[in-house]
Parts: sequence; C-alpha cells; structure tokens
Amino acid sequence: MGREELRGKVAIVTGASSGVGWQSAVRLAEQGVRLCVTARRLEALENLQAQVLRQGGECLVAPGDVTVQQDVDRVVRACIEFYGRVDLLVNVAAVQSYGFFDDLPWEHLERTFDVNCFGYMRFARAVLPHFRAQRSGHVLNVQSMLSKGGAPLLASYAASKHATLGWAECLELELRGTGIHVSNVLVPSVATPMFDHAPTQFHLAPMPVPPTYEPDVAARAVVRCARRPGRTVVPVFLQGRLILWMDRWVPRVGKWLLGNFGVRMQMREKPVERTEGNLFHPVRQGVGPHGSVPPTPRWKRFTATAGLVALAGGALSGVALGARGLARAVR
Ligand SMILES: NC(=O)c1ccc[n+]([C@@H]2O[C@H](COP(=O)([O-])OP(=O)(O)OC[C@H]3O[C@@H](n4cnc5c(N)ncnc54)[C@H](OP(=O)(O)O)[C@@H]3O)[C@@H](O)[C@H]2O)c1
Repeated sequence: MGREELRGKVAIVTGASSGVGWQSAVRLAEQGVRLCVTARRLEALENLQAQVLRQGGECLVAPGDVTVQQDVDRVVRACIEFYGRVDLLVNVAAVQSYGFFDDLPWEHLERTFDVNCFGYMRFARAVLPHFRAQRSGHVLNVQSMLSKGGAPLLASYAASKHATLGWAECLELELRGTGIHVSNVLVPSVATPMFDHAPTQFHLAPMPVPPTYEPDVAARAVVRCARRPGRTVVPVFLQGRLILWMDRWVPRVGKWLLGNFGVRMQMREKPVERTEGNLFHPVRQGVGPHGSVPPTPRWKRFTATAGLVALAGGALSGVALGARGLARAVR
C-alpha cells in the first residue's frame, strides 16, 4: 500500500488519552487519517483533539471504557455516524499491575485480562460486521515484547498480552481472503505515563525493563503497519529483534538476566503508595505521550547492545563447542 492510501481513511484509536495511543493518533492524523479517539478520560481526549485540529487533522472524541460492551458499541456507532465508515481499528488500551504473581490481588489478574485482552476482542467484534460489509478493514493491535517473553512482577500483564497475540493470530487466519487484515506491533519499553499510573504492590515506583525508547518509536511503527497491513512488526533491534533471536538460540542468557536482576531493574528510587493506580478508575496524572521515566540515552543503548551481543555470542559458541564435543563422543 502506498502513502496516499492512508489519507481519508477513518481510524478508531483506543487508549488515546496517553502514551502510545496518543502519539499514534497524532502520527496517523499527520498522514491524513480521520480519527475517532477513545479512552476513559474525556478532558485528556479533548486536549488530544485540540492538538490534532490545530495541525489540520480531523478528530472525533468518544470516551468509553473498553471493559463495558455498551461503551464499545457506542464508540463504534459514534464513529460511523460521524464519518460514515471505519477502516482501521488501532487497539492500544492496556493496564498493568506490578507484584509477585502470588501477591497480586485476584481482581487485578481479571481486570488486566478484561482490559488488555477482552478489550481488544470487544472492539474487534464491534467493527468486524462493518469491515465484512465493506469487504475491507484492518485490526491493528499494539502488542508488547511481553506478548512473547516474560518478566518478573508482570505475570498478569504478560499473560494477557500472550493471549491477545494468540487471538490475533487466529483472527488473521480466519479472515484470510476477506480483504480484512490483522497486524501486530511488538512494542519495546517506551517512556509513556504507563509507569506513573500502574498499580504496584511495592513501595517504590515501577519503571520499564531498560532500555526504554521514545513513545514515537511505537507510533511510527503503527503508521508503517497501517500503511502495509497483515504483518507483525518489531520496531527496534536491541529490545526487539535481538531479544527474539536470543530467546530462540540462547534462551538461558535472557532468563539469567531477568531472573537475577529483573525485579530490581523495574523499580525506581522513588517512594509511592499506589495499590490501585488506573486499573479500575482513571487517574489524573499521566496525560499526553510522555511519562516521568525518561528514554534511555542512545549511547547507553549502544553499549548495552554490544554487551548483549557479546554475551549471546559467548553463549552460542559454548553451545557450538558442546555440540562438537558431543558429536566427537558419539563418533
Ligand atoms: N509503555 C511500555 O513500555 C509498553 C511496552 C510494551 C507495550 N506497550 C503497550 O502499548 C500500549 C499503550 O501503553 P502505554 O505505555 O501508552 O500506556 P498508558 O500511557 O498507560 O496508556 C494506556 C491507555 O489505556 C487507557 N485505558 C486504560 N484502561 C482503560 C479502560 N478500562 N478503558 C478504556 N481505556 C483504558 C488509558 O486511558 P484512560 O485511563 O483515560 O482510560 C490510556 O489511554 C499498551 O497496549 C501496552 O501494552 C507499552
């Protein structure tokens, strides 16, 4: 698909009041996509709308909760009444809750699935009849590197993201030949407000597993995917393609790093009391694309890449030597 083809398309973007959703909406509007933005916080959505309109874009605000079926149906209806159609669903809304699996309140596990997994499914089911009627459409899901791997303290989040990726892969197969596409963007750690409003069982503020990238890295990947649907996009090398490669060939390296240091890596030296965060109700803090955790400077990312490549290389040559020794012994 060429660049022109995005111009004039109509997209619903969920989770648009902050982070990746906000930035993706801005980037899509720059490409001429007409927006219907949704999340729970009306005022934040109106701020986004003002920004998009100032930049010459079109933006309808339709607040709602992705766990409430009537809200989801109302958002899709509002979009179709306003623009007459919907071409693209960008599923973004998600929550996470930090804590050891056996300490997490059961309601946190259920809620995480309800937002991250069933929320995506609810929106997809609400747009699919329209996509089928027009024989075209695109369900674009913002996923995570934790849709494939794991990290301590994020069991409910990672499980919900694995489930969502599994669902998306099934949907893609079911829709083959219908003109409707399904895509996924495997987002690395990005410096959004997610860590300012996520609940935690600890007394230190959470932070993403480093390195952390600009939210725009995810937003630009969303635009690329919107242009060329039907793919799973991994936007970065270090916390993306390299990690997937290591998981496949030298899985012990990543498990050793995250198993030994993953808990400490995800805590800031900043005291907090935050047991519910934005899980069940929206909170005031954390509007707009950026949060209080800064992105990792480029030079640190470069050094970490070199370190990881060396570790992975060492582990791989260890495996190769072991295999050669085994082959000799068998001979
Ligand atoms: N940040 C990262 O490091 C990272 C890494 C990998 C993947 N991702 C993925 O990127 C996506 C966006 O995350 P983010 O970092 O941008 O987080 P964020 O800033 O916390 O944004 C989450 C969005 O979801 C909305 N939301 C939460 N619960 C909702 C509900 N019940 N109903 C409707 N909307 C709800 C929030 O708005 P309201 O509170 O106004 O409803 C907010 O707009 C998620 O799918 C996440 O899994 C993020």
